[in-house]
Amino acid sequence: MVKVAVLGAAGGIGQPLSLLLKQNTLISHLALYDLVNVPGVAADLSHINTPSKVTAHLGSDNLKDALVDAHVVVIPAGVPRKPGMTRDDLFKINAGIVRDLATAASKYCPKAFMLIISNPVNSTVPIVAEVFKKAGVYDPKRLFGVSTLDVVRASRFVSEVSAELNPVDTRVTVIGGHSEKFTQEQIDALTHRIQFGGDEVVKAKDGAGSATLSMAYAGARFAIHILEASVGGKSGIIEPTYVDLLSDPSNDIKALTGCDYFATNVELGPDGVQKVHPVGQLSDYEKKLLEACVVELKGSIKKGIDFVNTDSKM
Ligand code: NAD
Ligand code: LMR
Repeated sequence: MVKVAVLGAAGGIGQPLSLLLKQNTLISHLALYDLVNVPGVAADLSHINTPSKVTAHLGSDNLKDALVDAHVVVIPAGVPRKPGMTRDDLFKINAGIVRDLATAASKYCPKAFMLIISNPVNSTVPIVAEVFKKAGVYDPKRLFGVSTLDVVRASRFVSEVSAELNPVDTRVTVIGGHSEKFTQEQIDALTHRIQFGGDEVVKAKDGAGSATLSMAYAGARFAIHILEASVGGKSGIIEPTYVDLLSDPSNDIKALTGCDYFATNVELGPDGVQKVHPVGQLSDYEKKLLEACVVELKGSIKKGIDFVNTDSKM
C-alpha cells in the first residue's frame, strides 16, 4: 500500500494537485485532509477510474486517520499572498498551521517524506525540522521544501527567449546555470522574471490568491519523483529542492553559503535525499546574487527555528 496524504487538499493548490496525484498508479491511497469542503473534493475525485482509493478527512479530529501509514505527506495548507504582500507576511498565520500539522505527522507517520509547499517555504521547512527534532524522530533526508515551481518557470521563461529550446526538457539550474547563450540584457530580464514570477501571478489574480495550477503541476511532479525514487526503485532522479544541509555529508554548500538550508539539485533515492549537488561554477554576476540571497535566507531560517523553540507553545 502506498498512501499519500495531502493536507490542505480543498484549496487552490490542493484540489488540482490531488487531481494530478489521482492519475498516478504508484499511489494506492490518496488521503485528503482540510478544515473545509474536503468531502466534496474527495467524492468528486473518487469517481476517476484509476486504481487509488480516495478518502476524505475533515477537521482536526480526523487528521490522525489521514496521516497514519502515509508514505508521503504533501502540505499546501495555509493562506496565499495578495498584491502588496511578501511571502514573509504569511508567516504569522502559516507558521502555526505548519507547526501543528508537522506535530501530528511526527506522531502518526514519523517516517513519511514531508513535502512542504506552504509559504514562506524558507521558514516553514525549518519549522517542520524543529518539530520532528523535538519529537525525536527527525531524519533530514526525508524533509523537502517544494521549490519545483521556480525551475518549472525558469524552463518556460528561458525557452520563450531562446526559440530553439523546448520548455519540457530544458533544465535550468536556478543557481549556477549556463548563461553564455544570452546577452547581459537578456540575463537581467530573465533573472528578474524568474525571481519575481510569483508576483506576476499574484498581480494578475488581483486579490484572488497566488499561483495554484502551475504549483499543483510542480508539486505533483516533485511528489511523483519522490515516489518513483522510493517505492518505484528508479535511480538517477534529480530535482531541485530546498533541503536541510545536514543531509549533505560533503558540506560543500554549507561551506560556501554558511546557510543550514538551501535549494539545490538533489538526487533522490529510496531514503529520500541521496546526494546534494553543489551549486556549480558561478559567474561573477551569479556570485553577487548568491551573496545577496544568503543574508535574507539566514534570517528566514532563524525565524522558523525560533518560532518552534522560543516563540510558540508546543
Ligand atoms: P488556498 O487558500 O486556496 O488553500 C489553502 C487551503 O488550506 C484551504 O483549503 C484551507 O482550508 C486549508 N487550510 C488552512 N488551514 C489549514 C489547516 N490548519 N489544516 C488543513 N488545511 C488548512 O491557498 P493556495 O493558493 O492553495 O496556497 C496555499 C499555500 O501554498 C500558500 O501559503 C501559498 O503561499 C503557498 N504556495 C507555495 C508555492 C511554492 O512554490 N512553494 C507556490 C504557490 C503557493
Ligand atoms: C510563487 O512563487 O508563485 C509562490 O511562492 C506563491 C507566491 O506567493 O508568489
